[in-house]
Amino acid sequence: MTTLAHVSGVRGAVSLDALSLSHGSVPAVRGVSFLAAPREVLTLLGPSGCGKTTTLRAIAGLETPQHGRIMIDGRAVYDASCRINLPPEQRGLSMVFQSYAIWPHMTVAENVAFGLRARGVGKARLHESVRRCLDLVGLGALADRPATRLSGGQQQRVALARSIAGDPGVILLDEPLSNLDAQLRLAMRTELRALQRRLGLTAIYVTHDQEEALALSDQVAVMREGTIEQIGTPQEIHASPCSRFVAEFMGVRNVIPCQVIPHGGGVLALLPDGTKLQARGPIPTGPVCVCFRPISVQIRTGPDGGRPAVVSAAAYLGDLMQYELQAGDLSICARSLPRDDLREGATVYWSVPPEACFLVSA
Ligand SMILES: Nc1ncnc2c1ncn2[C@@H]1O[C@H](COP(=O)(O)OP(=O)(O)OP(=O)(O)O)[C@@H](O)[C@H]1O
Ligand SMILES: [Mg+2]
Repeated sequence: MTTLAHVSGVRGAVSLDALSLSHGSVPAVRGVSFLAAPREVLTLLGPSGCGKTTTLRAIAGLETPQHGRIMIDGRAVYDASCRINLPPEQRGLSMVFQSYAIWPHMTVAENVAFGLRARGVGKARLHESVRRCLDLVGLGALADRPATRLSGGQQQRVALARSIAGDPGVILLDEPLSNLDAQLRLAMRTELRALQRRLGLTAIYVTHDQEEALALSDQVAVMREGTIEQIGTPQEIHASPCSRFVAEFMGVRNVIPCQVIPHGGGVLALLPDGTKLQARGPIPTGPVCVCFRPISVQIRTGPDGGRPAVVSAAAYLGDLMQYELQAGDLSICARSLPRDDLREGATVYWSVPPEACFLVSA
């Protein structure tokens, strides 16, 4: 566990403490706290309207919260109780927007130079910085091209080059890849991670794409209605979601309300139709759901220990098939390599290994 004492005074640490911000009467961020250690990527992940952009803009100093504290490099840049509120340019960070926000009437190099020039950086150093940043994002050859004559991916690289030109310790990225096509998004994701590591930047990254969050991050904070529902490593969020909301957002398709009965070292989950499933602990307090991923469902054509169901639908997903199984009121989603014996209407027998079944609060 990283503590503030470990990181205070170290370049790039970002911490939020009980931050709240309302747009008029709309509470957009409600008591958000987290700590991003230096050189870490912390991702805010969540559905539309959950407060990701508002949190990022508050860190940047583009929105003023009503409560809480924001520390960067161990220094308060916003503190409601001490009335501290530094302007964006004094926070030692830069921001990349979804829309790129590059200047259409300037060349690629002028776009990158703009912020440096405004800060009075001398001509020789400015030239050298611009060249270095364009080389880092692979745009060295296009320095003199008008910024409008670029592809979406190239425009995104200009925005990225501009954001690192001022040598920030912290970079804030708001859905920076969402305007790119699927293939380019994957390539840029890898490049972005490599660049962040190479420059030793701390990044606060916003996305609603769970795969992107898992691939890029050291920590993922899943947001819901202005609060952080769960924060942890990508492995923790993926393997052990804490709630029904996080489980469903992370693509766990089988989330079924149940009663729990302690059973040996584990638990028995009692489903509404009377089915009992062995699950792993721990047992959350309050109402619970049992969860398992489609890939964990084993399907056989003979009974040997499985529960009967009918294949109600089969869909081709490319590498895998998705099978919907129906047993009375119970619907189960399963995925496996394509199989000839699982046609729609067939009776099959399904089971889930106990270690693949876990419990979340409902
Ligand atoms: N300028 C504004 N005035 C009033 N309400 C706003 C304003 N900006 C955002 N909101 C509201 O605040 C809440 C959080 O918005 P925010 O833009 O932070 O969400 P988000 O998680 O970034 O969503 P998305 O994924 O759609 O970008 C939403 O309910 C939104 O409607
Ligand atoms: Mg947003």
